[in-house]
Amino acid sequence: SKGTYPFFMLKEIDEQPIVMHRLVDAYTDDEGQVSIDSDLLAAMKRADRLYIVAAGTSYHAGLVGQALFEKLAKVPAEAYLASEFGYHQPLLSERPFFIFLTQSGETADIRQVLVKIKAQGFPSLTVTNVGSSTLAREADYQLLLHAGPEIAVASTKAYTAQIAAEALLAKALGEVKAIPEAAQFDVVHQLGLASTAQQALIEQKDLIHQWATDLFATTRNAFYIGRGTDYYVSLEASLKLKEISYVQAEGFAAGELKHGTIALIEKDTPLVAFISDPETAAHTRSNADEIAARGAKVLRIVTQAQAQDEDQIVIPDIDPLLAPLLSIIPAQLLAYYTSFDRGYDVDRPRNLAKSVTVE
Ligand code: F6R
Repeated sequence: SKGTYPFFMLKEIDEQPIVMHRLVDAYTDDEGQVSIDSDLLAAMKRADRLYIVAAGTSYHAGLVGQALFEKLAKVPAEAYLASEFGYHQPLLSERPFFIFLTQSGETADIRQVLVKIKAQGFPSLTVTNVGSSTLAREADYQLLLHAGPEIAVASTKAYTAQIAAEALLAKALGEVKAIPEAAQFDVVHQLGLASTAQQALIEQKDLIHQWATDLFATTRNAFYIGRGTDYYVSLEASLKLKEISYVQAEGFAAGELKHGTIALIEKDTPLVAFISDPETAAHTRSNADEIAARGAKVLRIVTQAQAQDEDQIVIPDIDPLLAPLLSIIPAQLLAYYTSFDRGYDVDRPRNLAKSVTVE
């Protein structure tokens, strides 16, 4: 039940700090060490490349996963849209391993990829919120997201749970492979920090609601920018806004805006800039300034380490690999309040179903 919440989406946003703890509990042993099915880790260790296959929000979580697996486990990893992969299978490496990310475990686009790669004899893992689902049953290995039922059509807690699960898995795989970066990455501590920081951001609901009003109350379009994982957050943030508020929203790699899309910027066009990546913070900031100079309304969501006085939403510091766990929270709330204030049925947007069981 949604209790006192007007919509499940808001309840599910609020549950994210608890889900971080549930995942840590599920995938650590009594000594607090990360503990994941050793057969799964052995199968992944044999792989020379990870293929992460997903759709929608789960695909955006998979994009973040690329960086986690490459940095912590030193294995090339790439996320693919299931609907594309199924019919345009790329040339595979010698020892591929497939990771299917799917909240529902029932997405038809993913299932057809699973069927095809199984026929080719390749190993697979399904990371899902539903243990009894088709994709959980049909893959060789399963990891559960422990996010609890996600009722709102717009996915929120499954996204952050998928990123946290990928972090735990990448850490465990990196340790099995004796990768120094994995040994140094204290995932349990970092996910604890993430939980606390998510809670602090959620407590700024009123401020974020105000920003939703200022930026999006009457607009027909919106832009989100970032670089690296901030770019992937931009994609997810824009999907959240468009699917429940029907505002045409696009996420861009910040450096690409000037290669064409900047032509769309007019007076009062809303732009949200995510700035957490230390490598590129200054570049994204100057991209945002350039857009502001053309009359856009700019909201910057910035980690403490990169923050300047002018920044409106500051997120607590965390390992940059996990910044998406935090920066997505204000973006989810911006989308929620925009939809709510426009009087829409936030949980059941038009034309959409919770699980997409046709190709
Ligand atoms: C967006 C959303 C969809 C799903 C997509 C994949 O908020 O909910 O984009 O993420 O349909 O669904 P799953 O993860 O169940 O495979």
